[in-house]
Amino acid sequence: MQQYRIATIPGDGIGGEVVTPATAVLDRVAAHHGFALSYDEFDWSCERFAHTGAMMPEDGLDRIRHHDAVLLGAVGWPGVPDHVSLWGLLIPIRREFHQYVNLRPITVLEGVPSPVTGALPGEVDFVVVRENNEGEYSREGGRFDRGTPRERAVQESVFTRRGVERVLEYGFDLAERRGGRLTSATKSNGIVHTMPFWDELVAERAALHPDVVWDQEHIDALAAKVVLEPARFDVIVASNLFGDILSDLAAAVAGGIGIAPSANLNPEREYPSMFEPVHGSAPDIAGRGVANPLGALWSASMMLDHLGHPEAGRQMMDAVRAVLAEGRVRTRDLGGEAGTDEFTSEVLRRLP
Ligand code: NAI
Ligand code: MG
Repeated sequence: MQQYRIATIPGDGIGGEVVTPATAVLDRVAAHHGFALSYDEFDWSCERFAHTGAMMPEDGLDRIRHHDAVLLGAVGWPGVPDHVSLWGLLIPIRREFHQYVNLRPITVLEGVPSPVTGALPGEVDFVVVRENNEGEYSREGGRFDRGTPRERAVQESVFTRRGVERVLEYGFDLAERRGGRLTSATKSNGIVHTMPFWDELVAERAALHPDVVWDQEHIDALAAKVVLEPARFDVIVASNLFGDILSDLAAAVAGGIGIAPSANLNPEREYPSMFEPVHGSAPDIAGRGVANPLGALWSASMMLDHLGHPEAGRQMMDAVRAVLAEGRVRTRDLGGEAGTDEFTSEVLRRLP
């Protein structure tokens, strides 16, 4: 039987509360489809930071380098600055493992009302492809002349030809396999070096994919359109910062941050890819058993796709969709009363 080794990193707060349901559902569909998953759990978190001064051990990346995939809950906790937890764990994994695509599907599901009137199930279904390794999130720069009237902070954006080309290639290729439309997020009117470069590389890539109909929009106008006309999008490709903001906005259009999934992909498969819900550790509801596990379940189904079992991933999501569409059992963030376990049991009940 085919075996996959998964590294799980529950993280902080509700992270663990949503990873447990994900592995339970994964095991069920895996058994049905004739493969098996084994899990190695790592306690890398802010809690670990509080005890040891580090989010993960020094050889952390080596310990998970040979796993088939990483499944992560959420990381972050009051008392540890968010940039410490992010740069101490998530960003090293994303960068060292060349997970340069952050993929975020945005789908309005039946039974999950969108706050946007007119955003209907079956109509809103697109993906945001966010560059995940470079761009605006860089360490280059600094704080100068502290405490003087000349004090200033400089933050460099770094866009490399290779880094931009590979994420664009992924986006155009994905558009070819989906609806054949791609929108590039830009801001080349205000950002005069990196964004015109981005635009040029988009045009170069587009010439290699003549079947894809593409356009580009300034990020501010695009944000408005994602709210006003979400059904018109198929694939949106964006730099690290633009993609980060746009995908949370788009997740809200699809009914909330608690349901949104994401994949950090190393498309060449030289390193493990990492799957994680978009939401954070939700300190306000942690420990109460009320977290919505949907974002984690959906991310886990993306992991099955990536491992080469799309039919198993689809079965998992069909069960989730069925529970939501019926509407009897839903979590509080979606207006229901169910806890995490009750929702998960309902999903399991619909699986063979
Ligand atoms: P958050 O996503 O943790 O929570 C925002 C709001 O959404 C809260 O009211 C929370 O209760 C609710 N919520 C989130 N996920 C939910 C779920 N599955 N079910 C029901 N309700 C849910 O974002 P926040 O509060 O800004 O961040 C909290 C911590 O999480 C911070 O330390 C932050 O840095 C970290 N964080 C970590 C992320 C990650 O690990 N990738 C992503 C975002 C935030
Ligand atoms: Mg974000």
